[in-house]
Amino acid sequence: MTDSQDDAQPVSVLGLGMLGAALARAFLAGGHPTTVWNRSPDRTRPLAEAGATPVDSVPAAVAAAPLVVVCVSTYEAAQEVLAAAGDTLSGRVVLNLSSGTPELARQMSRWVAERGASYLDGAAMSGTAAVGRPEALFLFSGAPDALTTHLPTLSSLGRATDLGSDPGLASLYDTALFGMAWGLLAGFHHAAALVSTSGVKAADFAGVAGGHLPFLAGLVEVHGRQVDSGRYPADDGTVAVHAAAMEHLIATSKDLDLDTDLPTLVLGLLERAATAGHATDGFASVAEVLRQP
Ligand SMILES: NC(=O)c1ccc[n+]([C@@H]2O[C@H](COP(=O)([O-])OP(=O)(O)OC[C@H]3O[C@@H](n4cnc5c(N)ncnc54)[C@H](OP(=O)(O)O)[C@@H]3O)[C@@H](O)[C@H]2O)c1
Repeated sequence: MTDSQDDAQPVSVLGLGMLGAALARAFLAGGHPTTVWNRSPDRTRPLAEAGATPVDSVPAAVAAAPLVVVCVSTYEAAQEVLAAAGDTLSGRVVLNLSSGTPELARQMSRWVAERGASYLDGAAMSGTAAVGRPEALFLFSGAPDALTTHLPTLSSLGRATDLGSDPGLASLYDTALFGMAWGLLAGFHHAAALVSTSGVKAADFAGVAGGHLPFLAGLVEVHGRQVDSGRYPADDGTVAVHAAAMEHLIATSKDLDLDTDLPTLVLGLLERAATAGHATDGFASVAEVLRQP
């Protein structure tokens, strides 16, 4: 056993679906003694074979570790599970990685605090296969002391990111980042359809598109600063120039018999930005339009 394993804090995982099982395996790989519970007990067996300690009741799982991770289908189910813990919940840190809304997270935080425990909310942003690897993004928010104490343990899951004390923030980022990803992926599929009309394979296009993403990541940072300052210099083209490019994309898509909904949506945003007086500003001025629907 290594020094880090000697120091490893125990953790309990309640809920061993696809994500919960991956969490438990990552804690085990990080050297944390891991207790597992699941409503259908069969699901504890593979984890037990991997070194976890299976228990057959929620109170036994909660009593086994200072950090209790719950990962079930909904917040309602999570609360149902935690309610079964009774008095064992007091003094524990509860981390809920089930998906929900910011308001549900804030309600859950109050409910957990009433039972003498600290609450952390979390969002797993990278599916299940990457869990335990450095590239797996995990977002956390809630009780600040609890997060400081358990961040070393939570780092076994991947890139653990502290968003601050508002328990609703992890869910809000979760939704926001998914929205961003869906926008990007929808754009990718439109683009791949476009080049496929000249016989280009989607995988070949993906190679070129992927190489373009670091540039876009840089733009995201520039735009973030522009939005916060309320100034939108047109260093990468004015709203009017971007609108003209969108019109070309729509015309080309029509010529090639492709769907035009996506570029039409973006053109609409740019036109509204122009109408609001931002025709000579940069693309980031669409932020003004999005905040005043
Ligand atoms: N899978 C992902 O890639 C991923 C990524 C990010 C977030 N999430 C979120 O993580 C949560 C779990 O996802 P998953 O993919 O692990 O789901 P899953 O594979 O469908 O597993 C669901 C888990 O919830 C348990 N459960 C459901 N209702 C319950 C109840 N009333 N009482 C006790 N246990 C209950 C199930 O227990 P039984 O085994 O007894 O049915 C099972 O352990 C969801 O909120 C999901 O949105 C998942």
